[in-house]
Amino acid sequence: MPQTYLVNGAASGIGEAVVRLLIREGHNVTAMDIDAARLDNLAAELNSDNLLISVGSVARQDDCIAAVTETVNKFCQINGLSHNAGIQRYGTAEETPPDLWDQVMDVNLKGAYLMARAAMPELRKTKGAIVFMGSVQSMAAQQGALAYVVSKHGMLGLSNALAMDHASEGIRVNTVAPGAINTAMLRHTIATNADPEGLENTLNNMHPLRRMGQPSEIAALVAFLLSDKASFITGEIIRADGGLMTLIGGSPEER
Ligand SMILES: NC(=O)c1ccc[n+]([C@@H]2O[C@H](COP(=O)([O-])OP(=O)(O)OC[C@H]3O[C@@H](n4cnc5c(N)ncnc54)[C@H](O)[C@@H]3O)[C@@H](O)[C@H]2O)c1
Repeated sequence: MPQTYLVNGAASGIGEAVVRLLIREGHNVTAMDIDAARLDNLAAELNSDNLLISVGSVARQDDCIAAVTETVNKFCQINGLSHNAGIQRYGTAEETPPDLWDQVMDVNLKGAYLMARAAMPELRKTKGAIVFMGSVQSMAAQQGALAYVVSKHGMLGLSNALAMDHASEGIRVNTVAPGAINTAMLRHTIATNADPEGLENTLNNMHPLRRMGQPSEIAALVAFLLSDKASFITGEIIRADGGLMTLIGGSPEER
């Protein structure tokens, strides 16, 4: 049965792939992002009555509430939230000034809390689901990405706490943990590296499957977790990382 989903970080990468998949499956979707131009392009391309766009930042409570209100005004309900909005910034503690720390926390962590908080009254009515876009960095730490790592670990805590607080209401909350996924975020990291080709090779080869993931491969997991097929799954983090976190590093022989 067609459902109504609110998807943020929807103008690019993983969020955009989630929008495309859910629309293809016949659901109603509100696509929220700060990038109005890219949202317009996506809406023009998909040309679907089932798609609503909402321009706003997850870091602003008013924008989160507006996205929920606009969704309910058009589609009458919300069955699920796919939360993908995020930014990647680099640096150790000493290389991360407080304003950069705040920026990352505001979008990646506070934004997740604000969005969940805004959607919760509607999810309560539908016994809906939340899927947060975490990372393998919700469980392990890349070097030199302090604020990002902390924000993604915090997101896992948020996901688990929400799952426990709202389980008795029938609301499910889960987190997806991708490895390196070929999106604009990652392409920017590659392009601004001193050795782009070397970094791209490393990003491919660090996964036992010997490649980066595609946004559509993450979207498929999100759609599953949002759906009734995942009706007994809550408080879970599921990796989609090509085996990355299962491998013991430093093996004498690479295969
Ligand atoms: N690409 C990867 O390798 C990778 C790996 C693990 C986790 N992730 C996570 O997946 C999520 C999506 O990343 P992506 O790779 O698709 O990146 P992306 O840059 O392609 O897309 C992110 C989208 O979020 C939007 N956005 C940024 N700040 C926002 C805000 N304040 N409010 C609303 N929208 C905002 C951007 O405009 C953009 O459209 C992020 O949370 C990221 O941390 C990505």
